[in-house]
Amino acid sequence: MTEADAGFVVFDRVQKSYDGETLVVKDLNLSIGKGEFLTMLGPSGSGKTTCLMMLAGFESATHGEILLDGHPINNIPPHKRGIGMVFQNYALFPHMTVAENLAFPLEVRKIGKSEREAKVKRALEMVQMGAFGGRRPAQLSGGQQQRIALARALVFEPELVLMDEPLGALDKQLREHMQFEITRLAHSLGITTVYVTHDQTEALTMSDRVAVFDDGRIQQLAPPDLLYEAPENSFVAQFIGENNTLEGTVENITDGVAVVRLDDGELIDAKPVNVSKPGERTLVSIRPERVEIDKSRLSPGVHTVHAEVLEFIYMGDIYRTRLRVAGNEDFVIKTRNAPDQRRLRPGEHIEIGWLPEDCRALDA
Ligand SMILES: Nc1ncnc2c1ncn2[C@@H]1O[C@H](COP(=O)(O)OP(=O)(O)O)[C@@H](O)[C@H]1O
Ligand SMILES: [Mg+2]
Repeated sequence: MTEADAGFVVFDRVQKSYDGETLVVKDLNLSIGKGEFLTMLGPSGSGKTTCLMMLAGFESATHGEILLDGHPINNIPPHKRGIGMVFQNYALFPHMTVAENLAFPLEVRKIGKSEREAKVKRALEMVQMGAFGGRRPAQLSGGQQQRIALARALVFEPELVLMDEPLGALDKQLREHMQFEITRLAHSLGITTVYVTHDQTEALTMSDRVAVFDDGRIQQLAPPDLLYEAPENSFVAQFIGENNTLEGTVENITDGVAVVRLDDGELIDAKPVNVSKPGERTLVSIRPERVEIDKSRLSPGVHTVHAEVLEFIYMGDIYRTRLRVAGNEDFVIKTRNAPDQRRLRPGEHIEIGWLPEDCRALDA
């Protein structure tokens, strides 16, 4: 990848305030590669749409610069940026047929009739709606309308497509199907995509990289597997996937392992991620599938913790067990349904443990 390809879209120290006082985007530095599928994920109000609107040109940055293919775009109007867009409420024109809706962005770009027709046909086939060109939007289901909106964003072959919660209005099954369709199309056409969602499953399954937003800042920018397995702070650990947390104080850090004293007095081992010295408060984070209930599988010398079984749920492929651990009554473990795995009974008292590298000592 060349330098320009690595930074096809660049946010450079971008800030945004709507009222001249509060910054809703605080200091955004983000470089998106050509052909990359990047998702901005975060809770409502974290600034995702604002970032997309600045990139599209519907809002201007209060500070900093946005570059597209190496050129600053702060002063280029939206329709000249060559960006395709799909939004949850980006309605199709109701008085036009599907084909006319798709031809519209081509007419705006002064593309001749025969080329226009060929491109519309191709775009409709791309979203498997080839037979629907003559219909009006009202004669289509929600999912079909969303497909047409996608085709309209792609019909003029933009290099960059922005999507803001485009699947939010669809039911679960259709949403999952469209997630697959969108990533397949984006990758096969080599389009750079910036996708916004508050749905972490959607972000993890669709993206090359995910930027986790909270409070106007990127909390972590990483590929999906790293976000899940190596969260850099408590916000990301709790926002992505299921996660157990325990509160405590760092006792010591030796050879890359932090010994943490939980608030009930027990000691555990963890990987020091953003704690550095004894006495610091920490929130340790451990995934449900990384907890070991069989002591013989843990390395000798590793600390174990007392747990009381509160609930056992048989889920077919896995067992899901809820425990009380150091005062936390929502400590969940997941174990594979296998002949060598025991089914725990409510009321039972057990010892649990983990590999220190699977447990992360994060900010309190
Ligand atoms: N046009 C606007 N005028 C004033 N405040 C806005 C406007 N758009 C968004 N905001 C505020 O900016 C913050 C970020 O909003 P937004 O970018 O829409 O977040 P998200 O898409 O992550 O939900 C919120 O506090 C929101 O109320
Ligand atoms: Mg939004």
